[in-house]
Amino acid sequence: MWPFNIMCDSTARLDGKTVVITGANSGIGKETARDLYRRGARVILACRNMEKANAAVDDIKRNPFSKVDGQQLKDKTGDLAIYQLDLSSFQSVRECAKSLLTKEPVIHILINNAGIFMYPFEKTEDGNEMHLQSNHLGHFLLTLLLLPKLRLSGFGCRIINVSSIAHWFGNINFDDINLEKFYGPWKAYAQSKLANILFTKELAHQLAKAEIEGINVYALHPGLIPTEISRHSGDTFFYGADKLFNFFTWMFFKNVMQGAQTTIYCAVDEKVGEETGLYYSDCSHAMTYSKAMNADYSKKLWDTSCRLLHLEPEESLVALLNTISRQIAD
Ligand SMILES: NC(=O)c1ccc[n+]([C@@H]2O[C@H](COP(=O)([O-])OP(=O)(O)OC[C@H]3O[C@@H](n4cnc5c(N)ncnc54)[C@H](OP(=O)(O)O)[C@@H]3O)[C@@H](O)[C@H]2O)c1
Repeated sequence: MWPFNIMCDSTARLDGKTVVITGANSGIGKETARDLYRRGARVILACRNMEKANAAVDDIKRNPFSKVDGQQLKDKTGDLAIYQLDLSSFQSVRECAKSLLTKEPVIHILINNAGIFMYPFEKTEDGNEMHLQSNHLGHFLLTLLLLPKLRLSGFGCRIINVSSIAHWFGNINFDDINLEKFYGPWKAYAQSKLANILFTKELAHQLAKAEIEGINVYALHPGLIPTEISRHSGDTFFYGADKLFNFFTWMFFKNVMQGAQTTIYCAVDEKVGEETGLYYSDCSHAMTYSKAMNADYSKKLWDTSCRLLHLEPEESLVALLNTISRQIAD
């Protein structure tokens, strides 16, 4: 384990705040949930596997303190709730958003954390390549559906997209976005993680253009961490590749608590609250691949994502939000 990890040193509390974290039943998402619960937030675990989500809630309640200084905050934990969400189904995303919008009076922080890696070629029920939909399109839809609620929840709201350093190897293959002509699981993952950053930048731009204030957007690389993310590598690469990846990351990189720090930093740090549309690693700004900074590229992906959701890309964000909200109105 790399001993010089940067930890989020903010002691900000989140009493009265509601946080939604996708894929919070394991790995980085679960450790993020633990930390934000410790800070007093109502933490919603939006998960596909309810059995694992229930086990994660039990574990967090039994061991709420992920950091040494946690003991100082004893007895001031928040609240935990679970909602069903399968990002590979637009229907499930719409149902989850509808329940959240109906049952939750406020949402202040949305953490788009869930992800898959090295998945063999498969299309979702909506006809999209699995990485593209689970890692990008599902979060794109969820975010746009929840945005009006964040807007009504007061200033200081944040949307955090967990990307990866793998985006440096990515391209958005606009001519073949589902990679049907030439599929590679690494190519698919890198494309989806580049999409996370382009979405962050374009959303920050669209919010500014619509003069919607008080919602900041962040993308980040968490580090390399032994989690269940490598579970499909054994099938796609070679037998044991998942174990090798986890052994390598365990030896030389971060543990899962360290891996959650940049997400926590983007969610709570006071200075970061002044910034939007940027990419972070090790609790500070980081450089992105040049394609991730290209405004035409991010707008093109935004429009393509709208079309994959059967929406006409509208000139105004407010008009798009109205159209998308009508999809779950009845
Ligand atoms: N670990 C690393 O080294 C690393 C490096 C860079 C970036 N990241 C990013 O960090 C994020 C978290 O990954 P992790 O390392 O913590 O891996 P993890 O332990 O495998 O967690 C991934 C989470 O995503 C959920 N998920 C996957 N597909 C989903 C779907 N269709 N709908 C809803 N939830 C779904 C999983 O739920 P199930 O249990 O139901 O499968 C799980 O809770 C990912 O976005 C990943 O790309 C990780």
